[in-house]
Amino acid sequence: MRYLTILLLTICILLPASAWSGNLSLEHKAIATIELPGPILDSEFSIEKVLRERRSVRKYTDDPVTLEEVSQLLWAAYGITYTKEGLPDFIRGGFKTAPSAGARYPLEIYLVAGNVKGLLPGVYWYVPEGHVIHRLADGDVRIDLQAACLSQKFAGEAPISIVWSAVYERCTEKYGERGRDRYVCMDLGHSAQNVYLQCGSLGLGTCAIGAFTDDSLKKLIGMTGEEVPLYVMPVGRIPREKKK
Ligand SMILES: Cc1cc2nc3c(=O)[nH]c(=O)nc-3n(C[C@H](O)[C@H](O)[C@H](O)COP(=O)(O)O)c2cc1C
Repeated sequence: MRYLTILLLTICILLPASAWSGNLSLEHKAIATIELPGPILDSEFSIEKVLRERRSVRKYTDDPVTLEEVSQLLWAAYGITYTKEGLPDFIRGGFKTAPSAGARYPLEIYLVAGNVKGLLPGVYWYVPEGHVIHRLADGDVRIDLQAACLSQKFAGEAPISIVWSAVYERCTEKYGERGRDRYVCMDLGHSAQNVYLQCGSLGLGTCAIGAFTDDSLKKLIGMTGEEVPLYVMPVGRIPREKKK
């Protein structure tokens, strides 16, 4: 036992940080890969109007959302907006819609699809590079998502939810404690606010959820050991009586 401990300690000391926190891509097994339609890059909706009208919405109609809307929301959350040859690996494909401290991009983004026109129900992992989603699990898991979110009903009723996690090491290997205590969640806020605003411009409703059981959410999504679950945003169509 003593020798095993010494051996493990030696391995930990000798390994460069990047070898055990080299989290550029996660070890997910994809059942299928879906190329998302390209995002719309302009609209008539003014940013001022979206900001003025933004509100958290916790009630949705039973209507599905479309694959185009899913694409737009994921792009708003973390889509690539600038790339060129020779960027460092940690940038993972390019600069994104949301700013990130040191361009470390610690966030991972998932889609829980329950009722999307043109997409099978399941859990999907969004990969900004190529703007694709990988299906990780089949089936409608919204009721389990609701349970993981401390039984908040709207998580089970929304046609989709976007879920965020972070691989803290991507940020802490450069910024240490400051990365852990500040930057990761600042990055998260930028990405999530993009989704709030994109929902506003698409006429969809959403509400951030920070209250959930970490282990249940992690297991449901199939997050890897290095990820910390951070946020859930159910998205759906707003009932007529809620619209002004
Ligand atoms: C970090 C964070 C966590 C939140 N968690 C929840 C939640 O678990 N459930 C919920 O119904 N709303 C949640 N909210 C939404 C807030 O309740 C909401 O933003 C607040 O009441 C202000 O309303 P508004 O977004 O309509 O302006 C959360 C918001 C933030 C920023």
